[in-house]
Amino acid sequence: MRTFGIVVGLLGLLLFVAIAQQAKAPVPTRLPDGWRNWTHITTGVIYSEKHPLFGAFGGVHHIYANAPATKAYRENAKKYPDGSQIVFVLYEAKDENGMYVAGKRKVTALMVKDSKRYARSGGWGWQAWDASGKPIVTDPVQQCQGCHAGSPNRDLVISKWNP
Ligand code: HEC
Repeated sequence: MRTFGIVVGLLGLLLFVAIAQQAKAPVPTRLPDGWRNWTHITTGVIYSEKHPLFGAFGGVHHIYANAPATKAYRENAKKYPDGSQIVFVLYEAKDENGMYVAGKRKVTALMVKDSKRYARSGGWGWQAWDASGKPIVTDPVQQCQGCHAGSPNRDLVISKWNP
C-alpha cells in the first residue's frame, strides 16, 4: 500500500512538472534604466479609426533602441543580436491648434532579445506597462508575438530606420 502511495505521488509530481513546462513563456519584469537616452528610431501618430490599432494604440508613439539594436536597424538586419532592446512609448495625441503633440503617457512596451531565455516567444522577451506602471503581458505569444510575426524577415521587428 505504501509503495502504491509513493508511485501515485511520483506520477502526480511528473504531471505537475509537465504542466509547469507548458506554462506561458517568461516575460521581462522591468523597464531598463536609461531607455529615454537611447537612439530614436521613428515616430508614428495613429489618429483615426481608419487604423485597425486606433482603439489600443491611438496616439503619438516613439520608438527607441539601444546600441546593438540600433546597429541592426541601420543595417536593415534579418537577425537582431542578443542584448538588443527596443522601447515603444505611446502618448495621448493632444491637439494644440492643429498640431499634434505628446500628452500623457499611455503605454510603454519593451522587446528584449535573448534567444535562450526567450526561446519560446521568438527569442524576444515582451512586456508592456500601462499608464499606472502596471505590467500587462502574461502571455507574450498571444498578446505580442502573433501580430509582430507579420514581419517575418526582420526578426519580428516591424518599424524601420528613418535616415
Ligand atoms: C496588432 C498588432 C500589434 C500587437 C498586438 C503588438 N504590436 Fe508592437 N508594434 C506593432 C506595429 C505595427 C509596430 C510598428 C510601429 C511603427 O512602425 O511606428 C510595433 C512596434 C513595436 C515595438 C518597436 C519595435 C518594432 O517591432 O517596430 C515594440 C518594442 C513593440 N511593438 C512591443 C510590443 C509588445 C510588448 C506587445 C505586446 C503587449 C506588442 N508590441 C503588441 C503592432 C503590434
